[in-house]
Amino acid sequence: MSHTTRIPSVLAIAVGSILLLHPVTAKPAAEREVYKEVIVPILRGKCYQCHAEAADNPSGKKKIKAKLDLTTIELIKKGGDEAPAAVAGDLEESLMIERIKLPHDDDDHMPPEDKPQTDEHELKVLEWWVKANLPEGKSMKDAGAPDDVLAAAEKVPSDEEVKKTLVKLFAKAEKNAAKLVADRKALEGAIAEVSGQFPNAIGFVSQQDSDLTFTAVSMRKDFKDEHLAKLAPVSEGLVDVNLGATSITDAGVANLSKMPRLRKLWLNGTGITDAGLDSIKALSALEYLNLYGTQVTDEGLKKLAGLKNLKKLYLWQTKVTSGAVEEFKKSAKDCDVNMGIKVE
Ligand code: HEC
Repeated sequence: MSHTTRIPSVLAIAVGSILLLHPVTAKPAAEREVYKEVIVPILRGKCYQCHAEAADNPSGKKKIKAKLDLTTIELIKKGGDEAPAAVAGDLEESLMIERIKLPHDDDDHMPPEDKPQTDEHELKVLEWWVKANLPEGKSMKDAGAPDDVLAAAEKVPSDEEVKKTLVKLFAKAEKNAAKLVADRKALEGAIAEVSGQFPNAIGFVSQQDSDLTFTAVSMRKDFKDEHLAKLAPVSEGLVDVNLGATSITDAGVANLSKMPRLRKLWLNGTGITDAGLDSIKALSALEYLNLYGTQVTDEGLKKLAGLKNLKKLYLWQTKVTSGAVEEFKKSAKDCDVNMGIKVE
């Protein structure tokens, strides 16, 4: 059973690695007080940010999801909307254990998928604690913790260490959030300028960053080379650009060399030829390139050999031959080249 996160967020990785860096606590696990010095640091690190009053919440804000406050044994026993979070001696009836053990992609899994996850040693201690009737006020040894549980508890940092780590992490997260707001604000004018000319064509890729995406698909053949130059104000921020089925030719494609962060580029069904690929071969961040239905030939493909991050290349209905693709694949091993269904 693995309790590492499947898609770890930056915060999850940071918490995981920082907590691992400080496993040493002054007291040996056997002497630590069960609840305050072992259980609390586990719950504080992984649960309090959504199940605690402001005073105990690492975010400094009150957040008690599902009406479940996990900061005292009484409140844990009382539980939230649904049921007690823990029932002394009864693992099956203890909702917090059940939720932690659900598959990570289950909507009810705790902590939520994109948040720092409980580690196996933490779950081991929590399960023992429930089975041992939720002891408090005595040492791990006096509460009868067996050797494997003591070994697991040894890896739990002290509550003070967890608090310190969380303070740093939340300060950092806040700083990043502030930076994101500022970055997005700085782009507002440029976005408005581009939107004014091409309504609904530009936007942010996601809520979490300030990367931009542009699509000319709805304009089709009305979108021409001279229009591409009008993206200049946002060129540094663009990561996805869809020019599929537009009137773009090699002349317009030259503008793309001013978009150094491009990761995905659609040029399918455009007038691009081998010459235009000269403007693309330096786009080193490119991961996806669609050249479906263009006049690109084997000579053009050779120009793309230096794109080390390219993972997907669409060459269906081009003049590229399968021999050239084989040659290309020798240097671009990680690139999936799609030739479509070809009748030889
Ligand atoms: C990022 C926020 C977040 C974190 C961290 C988190 N939870 Fe939750 N938790 C929620 C939300 C939201 C709900 C309500 C939705 C649901 O039931 O899935 C919830 C519901 C629950 C419930 C159901 C309560 C009831 O009676 O309905 C339990 C039990 C629970 N969480 C336990 C935990 C435990 C244990 C941890 C830490 C190991 C944890 N949660 C960490 C957000 C969080």
